[in-house]
Amino acid sequence: MRYIPEPFKIKMVEPLKMTTREQREAYIKAADYNGFALPAEAVYIDLQTDSGTGAMTDTQWAGLMRGDEAYSGGRSYYRLMEVGKELFGYDYIQPVHQGRAAEKVLLPIIIKAGQYVISNTFFDTTRGHVGLAGGRPVDLVCAEGLDTTTYADFKGNMDVEKLVAFIEEHGVDSIAGIVMTITNNTVGGQPVSVANLREVSAVAKKYGILLIIDAARFAENAMFVKQREPEFNDKSIKQITLEAFALADAFTMSAKKDAIVNMGGLLGVRDNPALVERIKSNVISFEGYLTYGGLAGRDLEAMAIGLEEGLDEDYLRYRIGQSQYLAAKLEEYGIPFQNPVGGHGVFVDAGKMLPHIPWNYYPGHALAIELYLEAGIRACDIGSYLMDPDPVTGEQQQAPAEFTRLAIPRRVYTQAHLDVIADALKTIKERSREVPGYEITWQAEVLRHFTGKLRPVKL
Ligand code: F0G
Repeated sequence: MRYIPEPFKIKMVEPLKMTTREQREAYIKAADYNGFALPAEAVYIDLQTDSGTGAMTDTQWAGLMRGDEAYSGGRSYYRLMEVGKELFGYDYIQPVHQGRAAEKVLLPIIIKAGQYVISNTFFDTTRGHVGLAGGRPVDLVCAEGLDTTTYADFKGNMDVEKLVAFIEEHGVDSIAGIVMTITNNTVGGQPVSVANLREVSAVAKKYGILLIIDAARFAENAMFVKQREPEFNDKSIKQITLEAFALADAFTMSAKKDAIVNMGGLLGVRDNPALVERIKSNVISFEGYLTYGGLAGRDLEAMAIGLEEGLDEDYLRYRIGQSQYLAAKLEEYGIPFQNPVGGHGVFVDAGKMLPHIPWNYYPGHALAIELYLEAGIRACDIGSYLMDPDPVTGEQQQAPAEFTRLAIPRRVYTQAHLDVIADALKTIKERSREVPGYEITWQAEVLRHFTGKLRPVKL
């Protein structure tokens, strides 16, 4: 596959430190074999996340200087409102400091203790906030979403038949809401079709259930819709976004992804003044006054600019093209991954690549550590290591797939960096039998993967 060239040139550079294998062995040992505990300086290519790690344009940096730091009613707030309302078509848009802040503000208002919230697949923080609000998260992704080897255009979709069956079985009063995560991060940044959103929206309307979009990667999703859903081939990213968001009642959004800022989030509500009033009181308690929502005026300005830049089709083609380029190399080298590749990175199927490592020795984590040792690349596990033990039985839970996620930051790495990543994986594949599994020596009660300590185990 041809690399899609960058629709930008580089004005400022951030030097990277090169390390030797011996140095990396010492760093990772000192970090108890947990990538989160590494100093970022000891990392050459950082694929831990695409969240808040993007590079801003000169326009955004100039916007920082224009940020209006008034406590209330700042100019930057009004600029963000203008862009956000036009783009999403919602009556109320609230800035917050990041995606999980929007979740923390909204979810306790809509969930009564013991109620279910159903998603195509929750991202961890959203799942966490459903639980904190007393709710029970349920994932009902379509069957293709969990099959890494078979091609499907929209692996992020909700299984609508299962959704209806679940509602019928448990009764509509036991369900607080439906969350559609676009793109579906956990199954590989896989897109959701507008056709699927329409079906889910029709079910939500029929039963009177609130439909929320988790919009972190809405622009990448819209680009996939444009490319793969014939009805939308000739529509702009803006038109697709408007049409998709009109199907829901509210959205939460981490702006650290598709709005290409280092910090920020949004919460949107369409046509529900009573809900807006309750949101406002939570925002003032948790985030700050309504017109800044936990952010500096300069952050609001950069977000307003980034939201528009993120819709540019040349940028999105290049952006998705980076994942596709890396995936094509892995395919050539016979390295299994969630296929087709999603928007924000490649999810390597470490369970398949390292079959000698059983799931409870964490192949996704093992491959991430091996990538660091091999080439200074930091990735992370999206598999059984990420799953906390069952809160009731304390039993270790097995994830549906053992992924190593290579998340690609926006506008940061070059084609040569991607080649380094592919080459490192190829080298590891050649000596894959030597890659050790990992054992946990210490773990926190919740979200253990952030702070856990591990040691290698020869298998
Ligand atoms: N929803 C989705 C789909 C996400 O991917 C994330 C963050 C959030 C919500 C929470 O947003 O971090 O701004 O509070 N995902 C990052 C990741 C952390 O690495 O995938 P946040």
